[in-house]
Amino acid sequence: MVGARITVNGKEAPISPAAPHTTVLDFLRERGLTGTKEGCAEGECGACSVLVARPGVNKPTDWVAVNACLVPVAALDGQEVVTAEGLAVPGEPGTPPTLHPVQEEMAVRGGSQCGYCTPGFVCSMAAEYYRPDRCAHADSAPAGSADPEHGPNGFDLHALSGNLCRCTGYRPIRDAAFAVGAPTEDDPLAQRREQAPPAPVATEYAQGGGVFVRKNTLAETLRLLRERPEAVVVAGYTDWGVEVNIRSRRADCVVAVDRLPELRELRVEADHVEIGAALTLTEIERRLDGEVPLLAELFPQFASRLIRNSATLGGNLGTGSPIGDSPPVLLALEASVVLAGADGERTVPLAEYFTGYRQSVRRPGELIRAVRVPLPLSPVTAFHKIAKRRYDDISSVAVAFALDIEQGVVHKARIGLGGVAATPIRAYATEAALEGEPWSAPTVEAAARVLRGEGTPMDDHRASSLYRSAMLGQSLLKLYAQTTEAVSS
Ligand code: FES
Ligand code: FES
Repeated sequence: MVGARITVNGKEAPISPAAPHTTVLDFLRERGLTGTKEGCAEGECGACSVLVARPGVNKPTDWVAVNACLVPVAALDGQEVVTAEGLAVPGEPGTPPTLHPVQEEMAVRGGSQCGYCTPGFVCSMAAEYYRPDRCAHADSAPAGSADPEHGPNGFDLHALSGNLCRCTGYRPIRDAAFAVGAPTEDDPLAQRREQAPPAPVATEYAQGGGVFVRKNTLAETLRLLRERPEAVVVAGYTDWGVEVNIRSRRADCVVAVDRLPELRELRVEADHVEIGAALTLTEIERRLDGEVPLLAELFPQFASRLIRNSATLGGNLGTGSPIGDSPPVLLALEASVVLAGADGERTVPLAEYFTGYRQSVRRPGELIRAVRVPLPLSPVTAFHKIAKRRYDDISSVAVAFALDIEQGVVHKARIGLGGVAATPIRAYATEAALEGEPWSAPTVEAAARVLRGEGTPMDDHRASSLYRSAMLGQSLLKLYAQTTEAVSS
């Protein structure tokens, strides 16, 4: 049997003797590819960004930028990775390489000073450079439109939202991003998009007492989980990677579910949308393309593009964090969780899923297979995330609304809250205060007072309980202002 292997910059290499928890970042640096840097080791700075060939949304393969500090190298068994070193075209012996267009633009526009962050920026920028529909968006942009987050070349600055630079300043980096053209026809990475990405391979990588396992099917995975209920189940590694790096957590057995085909389907049916638990947030965002507006509003506020390229809804619900960003939205959408176990499936309304701090009704050996959002959707929706930074931050409070307002009367109100209790919760009392009432300033002011009393917000380093309560009420007042502005404009 061939041992676990990874292709880096076109060259195949064995993963052994890396430990099962060794990150892609450490693996690359051990091999001398030191362009990939460690800044934070927890997915917040992007210095470790590399490109991975993944199933594409509009082409067979997308080059996707991920945080190499979070992903264990064993998870990329059989996969292809490109680092900043692999972007340039090597020169003849004795001559320097020809810079990749994104490297060239960063150099000529002064996008790099100390250079520590630069390889990470370059990889994130290259992923956006190769996004197949980037130039199409440029073509369709109305002449003279001034969207500060998109360049005239269609470059979406959110591609860089997970990259931090401490010395250059962002304007020259943005200038470089907005200056790149389209890939040429003979560009090897552009050509690579036309072929399928490497298929996921079954992996059982054991080293030093730990084992990393990837099965081919859901049934095999569920059998394994029945045998090893203590196994840590991982999908995007955005949470587990932090545990490994920052808290030195180790597991005897890690089971990967991110490439299981049964967890990667997205179906729009007559009465619901079913979203596979292992689709990344970026895949959901691009495949739904605004079809569920509340999710479309959530995604840009969920961490960074680098994180969204790996993170999954299954992971966000599976960790059971009271401040996860997706639960309030999914609660407002009245979503259900489809749980798969060795004895079959069951569907649980998300409102009944969380049972306590990081606890849920999910039994040992069960996996979240999918999330179901019922249709039709309520027409008035909003997601308000209150955090210290606009993007790439953890919420102090998050509020999601989904309201049916017909002829000025609230027929149905669903409100999901995060950050105000030990679990994400529905704001039932506020929903009751709104339903059947006119959508008017007196109703909203009264309901906002009720909303301020929902949950049991606590004081911590992010916010005081008083602030959290105040923000709940403000968020409903803001929604009312938004809807009345929309009517009067
Ligand atoms: Fe900071 Fe990976 S080292 S995101
Ligand atoms: Fe120094 Fe970005 S160039 S941190």
